[in-house]
Amino acid sequence: FSAFLTDSFSRQHDYLRISVTERCNLRCLYCMPEEGIPLSPNRELLTTPEIVLLSSLFVAQGVTKIRLTGGEPTVRRDIVPLMQQIGALRAHGLRELCLTTNGLSLHRKLDAMVEAGLTGVNMSLDTLDPWQFQLMTRRNGFSAVRKSIDRILEMNRAGAGIKLKINCVVMRGLNDREILPFVEMTRDEDIEVRFIEYMPFDGNKWSEGKMFSYQEMLDVIRAKYAGLEREAGHRNDTSKTFHVPGFAGRIGFITSMTHNFCGTCNRLRITSDGNLKVCLFGNAEVSLRDILRKVNSGEPIDEEALEVMKQVALGKANLITPAGEPAPLLAANSNELLEV
Ligand code: GTP
Ligand code: 5AD
Ligand code: SF4
Repeated sequence: FSAFLTDSFSRQHDYLRISVTERCNLRCLYCMPEEGIPLSPNRELLTTPEIVLLSSLFVAQGVTKIRLTGGEPTVRRDIVPLMQQIGALRAHGLRELCLTTNGLSLHRKLDAMVEAGLTGVNMSLDTLDPWQFQLMTRRNGFSAVRKSIDRILEMNRAGAGIKLKINCVVMRGLNDREILPFVEMTRDEDIEVRFIEYMPFDGNKWSEGKMFSYQEMLDVIRAKYAGLEREAGHRNDTSKTFHVPGFAGRIGFITSMTHNFCGTCNRLRITSDGNLKVCLFGNAEVSLRDILRKVNSGEPIDEEALEVMKQVALGKANLITPAGEPAPLLAANSNELLEV
């Protein structure tokens, strides 16, 4: 593993998250205002060749997992050709290519993405009720999301092996009654349903009272499934994993509010405008885009870009929130949270 991406806590940053767009086709209450968020001019966003070049540099340095996020990554027009080019990095050490998506238009592109090398899908879905879906996302689309899930399960039955996780943000008084139906989804299907503690922030105008904690979720689930068992889990997981004995799938909890997991974080993040961030909560960013564009006069960019990556990865130790402290609230809107 290259020393470039190892920080002073010996954390190896082998997982890169890239936001490929700021845009989204939903307006989830906890994420965006009805009118959407201000968008950057196109020229500030990374082009497809730039994303591919950065991906290849990071893979050459030891990154083995790339996740594409947004906004909503599937609204990027050339998402499939982009994934084909990133997928080609499998020949150079990339082992996992994943997508975090709301699933609305995924079913149309899924087959081509799997062909391109897609290995995992984290799908945001907060409710199993079409009316509640409309309320929480301010859009219609439940049946389209369902279609995407069904297509993944169908492909998996044919041996595709796509790791499917459902991300469910639990909000008090909105969808907290749906925890048990979501657990039921894991009875027959090899799905991981992850319950996420809602994170209040300035922009979403919802109070902390809407947060439904990990402990409360566990209480609800244990009241019905007393035998719920904790799984060992991977060192760098953001979630705590459990399963109901006899069920095919798993459930997980992302406890950003009550127990943070900064100490084991192995993520690097590139925003859609090309900034490298090492910490979701830190403000330090370095513009890889500017480096790429500055040195487009024929000089090799690798040396300078790698030096910057090294500095950022090493500096990470100073940015993290000490483990055990509550995660700070995010400042503006949670696109920030999604981007990274
Ligand atoms: P995998 O572990 O690869 O399945 O991905 P993930 O869980 O990191 O990614 P996903 O995009 O599905 O994000 C799930 C939730 O975790 C979202 O609410 C993210 O905002 C949150 N999240 C992702 N990375 C971090 C992190 O480093 N710190 C914190 N606090 N939350 C994170
Ligand atoms: N609190 C918790 N989770 C959030 N997400 C977006 N905004 C918030 C928030 N305020 C979740 C989405 C998606 C994941 C990537 O982040 O639901 O599943
Ligand atoms: Fe879009 Fe995801 Fe934000 Fe919902 S949470 S508005 S799907 S980016």
